[in-house]
Amino acid sequence: MTTRGVYVMHFSINRLLPPDLQCEGSGDLVVPPWAFQPDAWSFAFLRGLRREATALNGKKVWEIGVGTGLNLMLLAQWCPRSVFYFSDLNPDCTPLARRNIGDQLDGRGRPLEGQWDLVSRLDRASVPPRVDAVIACIPQVPTALDLSVGDNLAHYYRPEHYREAHLHALGLGLNEALLRRARSVLAPGGQVILNLGGRPGVARLVAMFQECGYRCRTVHEEVIPQHRETSLSTLAGLEAGGQEDFEFFADASATMRINARVAEPRRLASQPVFHKIYVVAGSAA
Ligand SMILES: C[S@@+](CC[C@H](N)C(=O)[O-])C[C@H]1O[C@@H](n2cnc3c(N)ncnc32)[C@H](O)[C@@H]1O
Repeated sequence: MTTRGVYVMHFSINRLLPPDLQCEGSGDLVVPPWAFQPDAWSFAFLRGLRREATALNGKKVWEIGVGTGLNLMLLAQWCPRSVFYFSDLNPDCTPLARRNIGDQLDGRGRPLEGQWDLVSRLDRASVPPRVDAVIACIPQVPTALDLSVGDNLAHYYRPEHYREAHLHALGLGLNEALLRRARSVLAPGGQVILNLGGRPGVARLVAMFQECGYRCRTVHEEVIPQHRETSLSTLAGLEAGGQEDFEFFADASATMRINARVAEPRRLASQPVFHKIYVVAGSAA
């Protein structure tokens, strides 16, 4: 299938999803080359969201960085009474998600068109909605770092746009900025659920939530292979400079913890390296 002359991938969702996430009547997913193609990170996030589905049901939920809309296609089934807002920095994503979701939200979808940077519309003044929950799986690679996966908005963020954040060296600056900015759109008792790479270690993730004024808990964690083309030299350099070790593993069951200085030569030698994904939910304190 093509749109604007470029090849577009078209998946049956149940062929894309691992068996534990497959469900009836979930339909197809169109993924143009400029959109994020769901991967192991997405599946970890979905498992975390499924665990929170009972708590989210009946609530107003806003997905920041909606991408293809895959998460909402499943949440539509898991949370049949929720209303879902969705937006993205890439203005082509919200129409894509709307098209993929089709009528699955049955009047419960609230697409936020245009270019939304976290909770603010950039291309035109617009009042953001007030919601009970913000959910997001957004980039964790600042463009200044020497990491080389892909080259688009799905993977990278510009640290200079998020000056209130301090955790750019850990790749967490965009998520930190979201935690700070989301407070202005959360109803009392609201929460933010983030899908986070575990390389900084869970203690740093918890500290980020706490410093932004949230009480948090880990909803789900799992181990995935470290992307082979992503350099870990920046993280190894931070360790060499005295920062606490980053969290990697030499085995898929995460019994052999290693730091970035050990992980980087293993990666370069094509030996296995793994890290965790944590889905963390924070309630505004
Ligand atoms: C890794 S993809 C995840 C897509 C989708 N949420 C999923 O889980 O499949 C990250 C998404 O965040 C969007 N994004 C990047 N920076 C953003 C920002 N500052 N504000 C909102 N969305 C952003 C990207 O365009 C991309 O669609």
